[in-house]
Amino acid sequence: MKINVTDREGVNHCIDAIEGWRLMEVIRDHGLETPALGLKAECGGALACATCHVYVDEDWVDQIPEPSDEEIDMLDEAFAVDEEFSRLSCQIILTQDMDGLSVTLTPGSEP
Ligand code: FES
Repeated sequence: MKINVTDREGVNHCIDAIEGWRLMEVIRDHGLETPALGLKAECGGALACATCHVYVDEDWVDQIPEPSDEEIDMLDEAFAVDEEFSRLSCQIILTQDMDGLSVTLTPGSEP
């Protein structure tokens, strides 16, 4: 499966993703080779940092599971939060029906 990640300069990257992985893990790992996709994800997915913050594309917001109360609380710690589109990417577990998912990296999540 593929996902589309728009970097902080507005450039789209279509990258390979693996079902069952966290969206955060996929972006962070690609960021090792493609610095524009760097993602801090400081707590490693423990829902304790908000540095894996992304904006989910408008077309996809309703197609992925809703955030938990804990995720919503932790989003308060992120920069430039958008009530409609902000998510913590470590809380999005990729499934096959998310093939083509599009997200944008946010300010404040740089490694
Ligand atoms: Fe820390 Fe997602 S990686 S909350």
